[in-house]
Amino acid sequence: PAKTLILGIETSCDETAAAVVRRDSEGGAILSNVVFSQLEEHAAYGGVVPEIAARAHVEVLDGLIRQALDDAGLELRDLDAIAATSGPGLIGGLIVGLMTAKAIAATSSKPLYAINHLEGHALTARLTNGLDFPYLLLLVSGGHTQMVFVRGVGDYQRWGTTIDDALGEAFDKTAKLLGLAYPGGPAVEKAASAGDGRRFDLPTPLRGESRLDFSFSGLKTAVRQTAERNAPLDETDINDICASFQTAIVETLTERVGRALDRFHREIGAMGETPQLVVAGGVAANAAIRAALETLCGKHGFGFVAPPLHLCTDNAVMIAWAAAERMAAGLEADSLETAPRPRWP
Ligand code: KG4
Ligand code: ZN
Repeated sequence: PAKTLILGIETSCDETAAAVVRRDSEGGAILSNVVFSQLEEHAAYGGVVPEIAARAHVEVLDGLIRQALDDAGLELRDLDAIAATSGPGLIGGLIVGLMTAKAIAATSSKPLYAINHLEGHALTARLTNGLDFPYLLLLVSGGHTQMVFVRGVGDYQRWGTTIDDALGEAFDKTAKLLGLAYPGGPAVEKAASAGDGRRFDLPTPLRGESRLDFSFSGLKTAVRQTAERNAPLDETDINDICASFQTAIVETLTERVGRALDRFHREIGAMGETPQLVVAGGVAANAAIRAALETLCGKHGFGFVAPPLHLCTDNAVMIAWAAAERMAAGLEADSLETAPRPRWP
């Protein structure tokens, strides 16, 4: 159809979200976008507790869907399809979101789209920036660290991934170790802004290796050893460790992502247009990282695209939009038998 209206549902981690997106030949529009963050439920534990997450999704999801429809000024019968994240993620949350979507799809006789969360992140820049294929995606969140070559809808090639911790996880673990608040990213960034990023020489793993993977666990160990060696830590020490940690991250990303941009030039070419690097995931909030990536892109003849932050972190707009893209590309809807896939590369 020329115009499609899609309800999206996202419950794969610690955000419960519902949204309505419209797509037509001109592009997409966000009609509503509701996100409930469970941050406070998990803060006391210093990380996401799967069982608590699943229960919290159950409690709020129905209300969020109602609100997303109200905000869009629509009823269920107006929709063309229902979309939900069906993986990868925490199994309890995935079951809640996918079963809810199936129930709505079944009772309203609408098609169901079971969406890969990563595909949602990968396609967001087409909604927000009208980007054309192909492009490179750097996804850096609490659960994922990937370089993805995005060739088309449903056509993705993973060029690199983390062999241990995700980048956001490295920020969170560093924060925890230094006694800073959860989630660690914003706390580490704030401390780093007051610190000396050259005081401690921390490692930049995999530097010089031709494969495009990432590794952060060695860095985490080095942070722990540095903290132990300088104990007891005063505020200046903590700020300096955070700043040095961020320096190591920026250097690692510059080297690793730089290699991916080179590979793009080598294998894909510019196809007459400026190639684009898209950054997504919660770590994209980090100003130092953003600035470094922007500079890197400039040096390599790449455009740098960072969708607005609230669409970089987990949300349901990206899930609804991925379904809209799949529909427009003529890809089939999913069966009501579709099972959640906690692991789904
Ligand atoms: O995409 P996201 O909201 O959720 C998923 O993990 O799916 O990403 C959350 C991650 C957390 O690890 C958090 O510490 C990190 O993003 N983060 C940051 C910053 N803000 C959030 N990392 C570095 N600097 C930040 N300013
Ligand atoms: Zn995510």
